[in-house]
Amino acid sequence: MSTLPARQTPDGRALPPAQLPPVLTVRGLRRRVGARRLFDIGELAFPRAAAVVLTGVNGAGKTTLLRMVAGLERAPGATVSWTDANGQPHEAALDPLPAALRQRIAYLHQHPYLFRTSVWENIAYGLKTRGLDADEIRRRVGAALGWAGIAHVQDTAPERLSGGEIQRVALARAKVLEPDLLLLDEPTASLDGHAREQVIALVRELAAEGRTVVMICHDRDLINLPGVVRWKLTDGRLDTRHR
Ligand SMILES: Nc1ncnc2c1ncn2[C@@H]1O[C@H](COP(=O)(O)OP(=O)(O)OP(=O)(O)O)[C@@H](O)[C@H]1O
Ligand SMILES: [Mg+2]
Repeated sequence: MSTLPARQTPDGRALPPAQLPPVLTVRGLRRRVGARRLFDIGELAFPRAAAVVLTGVNGAGKTTLLRMVAGLERAPGATVSWTDANGQPHEAALDPLPAALRQRIAYLHQHPYLFRTSVWENIAYGLKTRGLDADEIRRRVGAALGWAGIAHVQDTAPERLSGGEIQRVALARAKVLEPDLLLLDEPTASLDGHAREQVIALVRELAAEGRTVVMICHDRDLINLPGVVRWKLTDGRLDTRHR
């Protein structure tokens, strides 16, 4: 498997990771479960245009952590800072997730929920809610179907899809919204063989096109991909320089 592309300046020069500002930085991310401290993370910067794998034993809190960053779980006391497209810095409470970030972050559940319509409608849904015109929606959905290799099932009811096809529909549905940060919960966990390889290839492409992909995973092929940043959650501490 080849290396992920080096981070680059707009004119194509390679940049060391430290020179790219993070896509966002979260501070004070804490969670208790009863008397047990699940995690206590002082500061966590999400590197720009990178593929990150998040590992840790079952029950370590990986899913909870990503869901808090996605605005899907309460995160009392946590803050988030980011820089907007005009270079303006912002800082706000993470909970509720600021509207400016909601459109920039996508979270994919381990078993993605698809609406019981068609594949095409599932991918178009987010674009319709953003009020894009019909031609633009058709263009973007067509491109996403082609990208994910699922054009042949575009009129199929989601309950008829295989596990691999469901994951690819979910990735296409996220990609059409052009998020900066994709949070994927075990995207290959229930897949094997060709279906797994197809999903790995899509994940690599998302990172290669300049998005940040953080994925919880136990898949050695993803964890060992050259160029991947490794985070490990152990006993409530997050090691962001895990080797
Ligand atoms: N709402 C909740 N109420 C009570 N306990 C919870 C709640 N949410 C999570 N937990 C507990 O927090 C711990 C961490 O759960 P989480 O799902 O985040 O772990 P994980 O690292 O993703 O595990 P896995 O690898 O099994 O998916 C678990 O012990 C879980 O039972
Ligand atoms: Mg989990």
